[in-house]
Amino acid sequence: MEYAAIKGIHMMSVTLSYAFFFVRGIWMINQSPLLQQRWVRITPHVIDTILLASALTLATMIWSALPDHAWLVAKIIGLVVYIGLGVVALKRGRTPGIRIAAWAAAQAVFFYIAGVAVTRSPLLWLG
Ligand code: HEM
Repeated sequence: MEYAAIKGIHMMSVTLSYAFFFVRGIWMINQSPLLQQRWVRITPHVIDTILLASALTLATMIWSALPDHAWLVAKIIGLVVYIGLGVVALKRGRTPGIRIAAWAAAQAVFFYIAGVAVTRSPLLWLG
């Protein structure tokens, strides 16, 4: 498959992953029963699997052509942190305060990763 097509899939899954995470966070705060629907629990796993697969495929394809890999490593670490905070926000967090803080922190990490993608630097616009 062409690089541009996989990048398109990557961008689409990135957008859907954030949209789902945002909405599920609102439902978590409102204690909405919508959060427990079967498709709501399954779809994010499918999207995040596609996100990870497209990310690793892109990274593999351009790895040897890159002069500097720090930004890709920062993205991988960022993604692991984003997923971990997401689990705390929607599942593990013991109090509403912890869950909301984890939800907000996960979004900050998400935008950090997007910033790293655009600037190709772990320091974003600073470096
Ligand atoms: C939540 C996680 C992620 C977000 C929000 C995200 C966001 C983005 C964005 C916005 C772009 C487009 C950048 C541009 O065209 O200027 C991009 C491209 C890319 N991402 Fe991700 N990404 C994520 C995870 C990952 C991971 C884990 C990897 C693997 C190391 C990765 C590898 C790449 C690669 C190789 C490109 C293509 C860069 C290029 O061709 O210019 N992404 N990503």
